[in-house]
Amino acid sequence: MTATGLLDAIAGVGRDPRRGGYSRHGFDRAELELREWFTEEARRRDLAVRCDRNGNLWAWWGEPGADAVVTGSHLDSVPGGGAFDGPLGVVSALAAVDVLRENGFTPVRPFAVVVFAEEEGGRFGVPCLGSRLLSGAIDPDAARGLLDPGGVTFAEAAAEAGLDPARLGRDDEALSAIGTFVELHVEQGRGLIDLGAPVGVADSILAHGRWRFRFAGEGNHAGATLLGDRRDPVVPAAETVLAARIAAADVPGARATVGRLVPNPGGTNVIASTVDLWLDARAGDDASTRQVVAHVRAMASAAAEREGCELVVTEESYGDTVHFDTGLRDRVVSALGGVPVLPTGAGHDAGILAAHVPTAMLFVRNPTGVSHAPEEFAEADDCETGVSALATVLKGLAG
Ligand code: HGY
Ligand code: MN
Ligand code: MN
Repeated sequence: MTATGLLDAIAGVGRDPRRGGYSRHGFDRAELELREWFTEEARRRDLAVRCDRNGNLWAWWGEPGADAVVTGSHLDSVPGGGAFDGPLGVVSALAAVDVLRENGFTPVRPFAVVVFAEEEGGRFGVPCLGSRLLSGAIDPDAARGLLDPGGVTFAEAAAEAGLDPARLGRDDEALSAIGTFVELHVEQGRGLIDLGAPVGVADSILAHGRWRFRFAGEGNHAGATLLGDRRDPVVPAAETVLAARIAAADVPGARATVGRLVPNPGGTNVIASTVDLWLDARAGDDASTRQVVAHVRAMASAAAEREGCELVVTEESYGDTVHFDTGLRDRVVSALGGVPVLPTGAGHDAGILAAHVPTAMLFVRNPTGVSHAPEEFAEADDCETGVSALATVLKGLAG
């Protein structure tokens, strides 16, 4: 079956009528439905599906074993996300299995298609939660205590999804089975458009992290409270949004975003008592990213002080720059007859695994260059070019 045919099969799952696009988050109804769909499609291909202790799904072609060739991605989305970020990597892996089988190929190495849990952190706030737990990159207690916007802990959601929360954490057996990991992903940016190429190979991922800024002031009446009597946390929060842009503009190639700002209680005629905002900061290296965050924190603290508000900043996730295995990268480029090599500003499970196993990423051209929004897109032809490229790479690795 083609990648676009498989994507069409799930096009109705998790649509978000309010935001547009898709909202499919870790272990929520939509993502659970996608996991069931994946399990069915894998079984239809005689792939034996297992769920590991951290909620990652593994579909094995033949016996599980060491030094496996593993490919896959994630099925969850950001709020109001596009149809391709994550699912394209999963459906392309299934379609590549079809192509390999149709050509009479049988892997000589163990071979698995994987779906990682909660890659976007759209529900529990930490990106790549499934691959971080698998590799020990997050403390299991911290993971268990992560809260979703409704106050449900990750432990509760995991238990409801059939996992044992007590077993969350580094899974040496699953991790050591991976010999090579290859993730196909829709490109999130304009690199391949500008190069006029349908497929490319990744060489690096920006250093990036997320910080929660909690401003505390004094809730009060919007009409009865004179300006001089206010401690309004929304004011320093607003200054912090602008500070993010100022700080990032100071560092070449850096990015800083506030996409989520939540006043409490959130009434139109109410001065908020607290405001939470999240800073997403990224740059080419650790020092630059830290420099941006330090600059934002300094401006946020000064703004909070001017308004008589308290500020607590919490680092919720961080990952240094990822440089993919150059040997594997070059092997993939040459197996594909020479395709562009390009960096990405987006994080991926491949970025987490790259610290443990040789890892590569294939990108498929996105004519809009837009991602994390409904306008994210990939042409059917380019998706099929991506599938045949992935099949070629996997055959070279597992043959
Ligand atoms: O945020 C990211 O870069 C990724 O899409 N999780
Ligand atoms: Mn994403
Ligand atoms: Mn993704």
